[in-house]
Amino acid sequence: MLLKVVKTTALVVLTICTLNAANFNAQAEKDRLALINYFEAKFADPAKNRSTFFPYSTDDELKNNIMGGLKHADFALGNYAFSKNGQASYKEIKEFPPTEEWIEAGEELYGKAFANGKSFKTCFPDPVAAGSNYPMFDEKRKEVVSLTLAINECLKANGEKPFKTTKGKMAHLQAFFAYSATEEEKTVNVKIESKEAQAAYERGKEYYYTQRGYLKLSCAACHVQGAGQRVRNESLSQLLGHTTHFPVYRLKWGVKDKNNDGLGTLERRMSGCIKDEGQVPPKNTSKEMRELLYFMAYMSNGMKIDGPDFRK
Ligand code: HEC
Repeated sequence: MLLKVVKTTALVVLTICTLNAANFNAQAEKDRLALINYFEAKFADPAKNRSTFFPYSTDDELKNNIMGGLKHADFALGNYAFSKNGQASYKEIKEFPPTEEWIEAGEELYGKAFANGKSFKTCFPDPVAAGSNYPMFDEKRKEVVSLTLAINECLKANGEKPFKTTKGKMAHLQAFFAYSATEEEKTVNVKIESKEAQAAYERGKEYYYTQRGYLKLSCAACHVQGAGQRVRNESLSQLLGHTTHFPVYRLKWGVKDKNNDGLGTLERRMSGCIKDEGQVPPKNTSKEMRELLYFMAYMSNGMKIDGPDFRK
């Protein structure tokens, strides 16, 4: 009898322990699945479900531009996923992608020796892993490490000057990593495996849903509730798939650069949106930015990495 009680207690304790260990991402997983359901419902039949999801869209947009029948994987294309016109020009540009030379520049940087004889290969022996493992929660440091931070830490550790975090070499190297992961058909696979990682995720989520500034805008106002609506001449894209394709070449950034180098990091894009909210964005390698990134990337879990890509 006693033995039976001991055995049962041991089993219960064991079950609770394993449940806890496996459960740090339970809330995140719930959030992710809810988001997929929401966007699939929203873009199932936009014209039919107009009053629920598209009350502000015009007849013309619903009839001639916003497409329906979208499934999870489709959302990776940003606003080109649902905009008929957008998708047509996207496919055209994709035939001669403006990103190729920057991938090559990144590959060259990857192999180039630092002053101490080492190179990025020392820090990132596998470019595919570098392109698919970030952002990650580093369980030893107890913080989120983004690819941007990891690259600059590598430079510093080798006595080199850190890169700018928005464009140029940082974006080139990331393009090479993203391309390597894309070629290997990697998917986003962000892990939440501890209490601290879970807390970091929750803080990132909080940031995403918090209204800011005199317009009281949150990221979610535009990229969850607002996705599919038009803001001036832009269609708002959905959070789902927002981190799968960076760095991104933007036509708008290209015309501003003397070498037509319009490639920029995800952080550059995010801070642009934060500025549009009327806010001063947190630094690109700050804890706040990394945790925001961690949340966003988790939402894209399971989706194919497809970078570098381009956007308007
Ligand atoms: C007032 C609306 C608005 C708000 C608020 C806003 N954005 Fe955006 N965002 C845009 C527009 C417009 C674009 C360009 C069209 C598109 O892809 O949605 C964009 C694009 C993006 C993209 C690029 C999408 C892609 O497919 O490459 C990301 C990532 C992004 N926003 C993140 C954020 C984050 C993070 C926040 C909150 C800090 C935020 N946005 C807040 C309007 C907004």
